[in-house]
Amino acid sequence: MFRFFKNHLFWSPKMPTGSFAGKTVIVTGANVGLGKEAARHFVAKGASKVILGCRNMDKGNEAAQSIVQSEKVKDAGKVEVWQLDLCSYESVLAFGERLNGLDRLDVLVENAALATIDFKMAEGHESQVTTNVISTFLLALLALPKLKETAARTAGEPDYRPPHLVVLSSGMIYTAQLPEARNKDEPIFAQLDKNKSNLMSRYPVTKLLEVLVVREWTRTRAPAYDYPVIINTMDPGLCESALRREVPRAGLGARVVVGVLEWMLARPTAVGARTEVDAALKGYESHGEFITDQEVEKVSAFCYTKEGFETQRRVWRELADILEEIKPGVTSNL
Ligand SMILES: NC(=O)c1ccc[n+]([C@@H]2O[C@H](COP(=O)([O-])OP(=O)(O)OC[C@H]3O[C@@H](n4cnc5c(N)ncnc54)[C@H](OP(=O)(O)O)[C@@H]3O)[C@@H](O)[C@H]2O)c1
Repeated sequence: MFRFFKNHLFWSPKMPTGSFAGKTVIVTGANVGLGKEAARHFVAKGASKVILGCRNMDKGNEAAQSIVQSEKVKDAGKVEVWQLDLCSYESVLAFGERLNGLDRLDVLVENAALATIDFKMAEGHESQVTTNVISTFLLALLALPKLKETAARTAGEPDYRPPHLVVLSSGMIYTAQLPEARNKDEPIFAQLDKNKSNLMSRYPVTKLLEVLVVREWTRTRAPAYDYPVIINTMDPGLCESALRREVPRAGLGARVVVGVLEWMLARPTAVGARTEVDAALKGYESHGEFITDQEVEKVSAFCYTKEGFETQRRVWRELADILEEIKPGVTSNL
């Protein structure tokens, strides 16, 4: 908490050095907020192609237009908008198929996320779980073959950097509670799909699940010494964006607390988005790890307990079953 206040009051993310010349980058949820500004930074840093994965093509095209104009991009085709709705597996599968047709893929930033106080189902699961966890990792697995192929093809290049898969998590993992882990009789995902109360706590839980899954992947199937793609999770800090668009409906208390925190501490969107560029440049020290304020940091204490490790294994086992049902064989892409 001390670090959070100190770094939001007296420190600001720096734009990392490092070029993306010749690289192809995908940013999901890039029509607005941090994703849009991260995409702008990737273009400014010389990426050959930046693809904005957006569920609303009109908003995506507006964002692309704004980037092309601000960065004075001569070849407008350098910034593409592809349709992606994480609430629809069909859309995610189509996006995955399309990206596997690319010449190369150097960076996938899984930035899109949903924070809502409404209980809604999407594809048979609570919508934040579907968007932030199931579809996010479905897309990650669909992209891994192309990221690995890019690593193999470009490894000899003089300024070679391994491809990156960056999953946007949140500092809210430090306060997230997952009481469902204590009930061993019913899958965690099934419990989350049924529990309609306390929806305010669901978004942080999905961000914790993201961290657990990446930690389990890199602990078991994708160890750093042997893996061609750097996979990390990250927290951009408290930033101005559309994420908290539903706070006004959450009651006066939430409005006041969030309003004051934002007024005092929120980083301008373009400044916060520098952390996404930074994560896409980090080395193997970040593989499987959580980056906050541009540094690899310990995750919440829960993750280092026996219960935390067991939960991590269980979450991935359950998620793997769900993903295999959506696309048989997809987990072998890991
Ligand atoms: N802002 C912060 O303070 C903060 C702090 C910690 C972590 N983060 C993380 O940073 C990332 C970016 O958030 P942000 O603050 O920039 O929020 P934002 O402004 O609300 O942007 C979220 C993006 O995700 C997209 N999205 C939501 N549901 C989607 C779906 N079903 N399919 C495809 N795209 C979908 C949104 O599209 P629409 O515009 O169509 O809804 C939007 O483009 C998130 O992962 C968030 O968890 C943010």
